[in-house]
Amino acid sequence: MQKYIIHGGKPLSGGIRISGMKNAALPILFATILASGKSVLHNIPDVSDVHAAIEILRSVGAEVIYRPDGIEICTDSVSPGIAPYELVQKIRASTYLMGAELGRFHTTRVAMPGGCDFGQRPIDLHIKGFEALGASIQLSSGYVCGEAPNGLFGSEIYFDTISVGATVNLILASVLSDGITVLDNAAREPHICDLANFLNACGARITGAGTSVIKIKGVDKLHGVDYTVIPDMIEAGTYMVAAAATKGKLTLTDIIPKHMDSVTAKLIQAGTVVEEGINSLTVSSGESIRGIQIKTLPYPGFPTDMHPQFSVLLSLSDETSTITEGIWENRFRYADELCRMGANITVNGKTATIKGQGGLCGVPVKAVDLRAGAALVVAGLAAEGRTEISDVGKICRGYDHLVEKLRDVGADITLVET
Ligand code: EPZ
Repeated sequence: MQKYIIHGGKPLSGGIRISGMKNAALPILFATILASGKSVLHNIPDVSDVHAAIEILRSVGAEVIYRPDGIEICTDSVSPGIAPYELVQKIRASTYLMGAELGRFHTTRVAMPGGCDFGQRPIDLHIKGFEALGASIQLSSGYVCGEAPNGLFGSEIYFDTISVGATVNLILASVLSDGITVLDNAAREPHICDLANFLNACGARITGAGTSVIKIKGVDKLHGVDYTVIPDMIEAGTYMVAAAATKGKLTLTDIIPKHMDSVTAKLIQAGTVVEEGINSLTVSSGESIRGIQIKTLPYPGFPTDMHPQFSVLLSLSDETSTITEGIWENRFRYADELCRMGANITVNGKTATIKGQGGLCGVPVKAVDLRAGAALVVAGLAAEGRTEISDVGKICRGYDHLVEKLRDVGADITLVET
């Protein structure tokens, strides 16, 4: 088993280049199934979720070559319905194979997906959307099977809940359909815009991405392109919190500051100093960490994927804060591990109350999911003493060269095999 050993209490200082966004790279990787010929994708992060997606693409017939400057993909030989159950189970993003297969082949057979465990992770909105386009969907022995023998036709689709995954999947399923599809109450995340920009570069006709109404005019064919993926706003947010939590000063480069607005606003409210550059942010700790109230919401609201990391920062305050989880059924599994380090977090329904203790203490803890694990890294960096984090494979799903990046700015963190 792999573990991180962190000796905390050292202020982080220096510069970190932010990698490409995992949650933008994943939909775009599956979207290449819809384009004929070769695509070359740049700024793809070196994280295990991306490697798992590439394994799935290769398993269905895609040719994928890792180049020094990016990833070259040709999906001309891809066949539908053959992705191995055990590969699909690894990541949540494998749901996107459904939309891509339906969009190109009018048939799909994909195992129910995996992903972080926040309680229920339904795909009813995906299925409702596929059916609105004319597909018939059956769930049988752990697989989602879809057929559209007469093809897919544009439709008006309203999402009862704002869903990143359902928005992605319905864009993939409709870009090659007949007619116009309107997605109403669509997700507005930057990675939805990135997917739309990629597909439009391939010849698609998508308008409104980034707003809650997205229109897709089906086209006959898409061609491969060269494309550079946007920077990872959650990776950036995690390092912003780490700078504040360790009383350090970090400059994050190759980012889009606009994407960080809600995170920046909450950090400033908590007393952190944030200076904005054209494609950089410099974050340094303030005099003290103030107690604040946070509610996680769909973009442009405060991102749920920054919830666990902020609970660490607020545990270092001398004041009381609350975080209300507006997206997931149960995203509080991180709290027990943080309480081992001396945090005082009580969860009541959807709200965690964090009574700041002014500091944390390094002890052995366990990463229960991707962002909970990232939060424990931040906690270990801020804590006095030695923190040992097990099950770090969950963290490697979404953080590119985490140990190297942190060591470059003064962290005492080591990856050990036990
Ligand atoms: C994506 O998950 C991200 N994953 C998650 O990030 C992120 O937390 C989430 O969006 C919200 O921003 C990837 O992009 C790979 P949703 P997704 O569909 O698409 C409900 C990380 O840390 N819902 O937007 O699965 C659902 O239960 C990961 O990188 C339905 O009810 O999330 C939830 O309450 C963790 N029916 C809400 O919508 C559906 O059919 C939002 O889920 C689909 C979703």
